[in-house]
Amino acid sequence: DWTMRAFREEAIEKIRTQVGKGRVICGLSGGVDSAVAAVLIHEAIGDQLTCVFVDHGMLRLDEAKTVVDLFRHHYNIPLVHVDASKQFLGELAGVTDPEVKRKTIGRLFIDVFDAEAKKLGGADFLAQGTLYPDVIESVSFTGGPSVTIKSHHNVGGLPARMNMKLVEPLRELFKDEVRVLGRELGLPEIFVGRHPFPGPGLAIRCPGDITKEKLDILRNADAVYIDQIRKAGLYDKIWQAFAVLLPVKTVGVMGDGRTYEYVVGLRAVTSTDGMTADFYPFDMSFLGATATRIINEVKGVNRVVYDVTSKPPGTIEWE
Ligand code: XMP
Repeated sequence: DWTMRAFREEAIEKIRTQVGKGRVICGLSGGVDSAVAAVLIHEAIGDQLTCVFVDHGMLRLDEAKTVVDLFRHHYNIPLVHVDASKQFLGELAGVTDPEVKRKTIGRLFIDVFDAEAKKLGGADFLAQGTLYPDVIESVSFTGGPSVTIKSHHNVGGLPARMNMKLVEPLRELFKDEVRVLGRELGLPEIFVGRHPFPGPGLAIRCPGDITKEKLDILRNADAVYIDQIRKAGLYDKIWQAFAVLLPVKTVGVMGDGRTYEYVVGLRAVTSTDGMTADFYPFDMSFLGATATRIINEVKGVNRVVYDVTSKPPGTIEWE
């Protein structure tokens, strides 16, 4: 892609100019954006970059392994893998307000990066895979009054005490462009084609308070759902699909007994940039088979519902 090749060259020059001889740390989330940002920055400044992957305990099944394999083994980019799940889950205990969740997670990310930067002997820059839609959605409704829809955990700058400047080489790009750039940079297709995953992770797919038990149920249900989608050959037709764990238990029946377990919501949308989206019209037979598998394979769930809300008025995530 000619345009992306030109963008890549220009972005690399900009990064070199901005960073000089400085040290950069880049937070990886497991998503496409931060991976592309990291590979681009590595190309620009090589060993001046260290990547930090924070396991906040709210990742998808096997996420940490996927990311560590890609960066350590495929790219040989220095990567620090921090298990901060106790700290995150500890501070989030009892927090139910979506904005407070997001802000708490954003603050803890900064704390962890700050601590890691100190361990590395200081860093001058923090790199993030912020995209154009992240920037505008956090500011206002398009054309409307200035109202925050939700605070994007990537956006909003850094606390003054940090003494680090932001490097955000993807700030002008949309998601589909980031994917083109990722391919241009040689990222494996399986990674480039992945559905987006938000920085706050499963926290915003678990309305109400977050516990390890709920997160484990959600992770397992989500893995079954995505497996079903892949097996049906639908993964690449869908912009984003994921499970949500509702903070509600309902009554069911299993064999001779009554059950009282959680409800899982399934979400799947088509979109081009995440700013608007339509719910994906699965066949009822697919939904039925998926519900059966989730209830049979995931302990703690006895009911599955499908979200038929488009964006607007719904957002893609539930919080
Ligand atoms: P919503 O839910 O606002 O999501 O319709 C639009 C897209 O953005 C992703 N998203 C985030 N990504 N940090 C991220 O890196 C965030 O805080 C965040 N919030 C939402 C969401 O998954 C969807 O692709």
